[in-house]
Amino acid sequence: NKDVYVLGIETSCDETAAAIVKNGKEIMANVVASQIESHKRFGGVVPEVASRHHVEQITLVIEKAMHEANLSFAELDAIAVTQGPGLVGALLIGVNAAKALAFAHQLPLVAVHHIAGHIYANRLVTEMKFPLLALVVSGGHTELVYMKEHGSFEVIGETRDDAAGEAYDKVARALRLPYPGGPHIDRLAHEGRATLDLPRAWLEDGSYDFSFSGLKSAVINTLHNAEQRGETIEIQDMAASFQESVIDVLVTKTIKAAQEYHVRQVLLAGGVAANRGLRTALEQKMAELQEVELVIPPLSLCTDNAAMIAAAGTILFAHGKRSELSLNADPGLEL
Ligand code: KG4
Ligand code: ZN
Repeated sequence: NKDVYVLGIETSCDETAAAIVKNGKEIMANVVASQIESHKRFGGVVPEVASRHHVEQITLVIEKAMHEANLSFAELDAIAVTQGPGLVGALLIGVNAAKALAFAHQLPLVAVHHIAGHIYANRLVTEMKFPLLALVVSGGHTELVYMKEHGSFEVIGETRDDAAGEAYDKVARALRLPYPGGPHIDRLAHEGRATLDLPRAWLEDGSYDFSFSGLKSAVINTLHNAEQRGETIEIQDMAASFQESVIDVLVTKTIKAAQEYHVRQVLLAGGVAANRGLRTALEQKMAELQEVELVIPPLSLCTDNAAMIAAAGTILFAHGKRSELSLNADPGLEL
């Protein structure tokens, strides 16, 4: 049994990333060039700025990953790239780089869904045990995904409006915190108390969908009303109240789905998985469930990276997936 080496490329949002993964599990190199500093002064990701950075960084990042892994292109087995969803101009840079390299070096090309990548970050940490449930929470996504086997994804719940990370970033903006706001709210939440009464969107009975825009508006209204009355709200208490509301819904629905679907594992994925409050709450609640394992990857694998794309790509490649050189980026790609 020969070892399989896959180069992963990820440029769906504001990180230009390339990684080499061995046998779908072992990271040989994981290079991420973050653009956060450039987007900070705009308070969010500016698509044109992102594309430009990707163009400037992509070759360097891939070369660096190949160098760190100490591999030549001839030693690779496949190239995996994020096809979507994401910003189209950003995705195109990665897809075109992957196509050019696949053509030049006569290597198979494998298109990967960004969310499949986030989920497969977990395989870099531990063996996946099916059936499993993945809670994917990032700046662009909030999804509960049921997997009965490798490569099979069933979305059992998703956000109807804002993604969890998006809500964090918008609330952070209302609190005049820098972008991206998630980590700042997380930090402040631990210094405050959840004393403010904020809504929780449970939606219809039995639904695993989410909604965060009402909560976001409630925060903004509460801040506004307090200001009108000349009252001050402690930013720490608002952060704590908001975070408690988000976590309460995320954790409750995840636990309920884990029980209903009789899963063996619950995987956490996406940038919001970095949230300390969410990690702790899930760990505590999951401890009450017998025989269900909770997997939370390290922070560097939760936020956007290419190792997760290579990991997902390796599985798809092993299952026979090959993409044509006519592959196009798809900003609205379905899982
Ligand atoms: O997965 P990711 O790096 O990019 C997307 O695919 O969206 O996720 C970025 C998101 C941002 O919204 C950021 O505010 C949020 O993850 N985030 C956090 C934390 N760290 C990052 N949200 C809450 N708590 C955190 N500690
Ligand atoms: Zn992501």
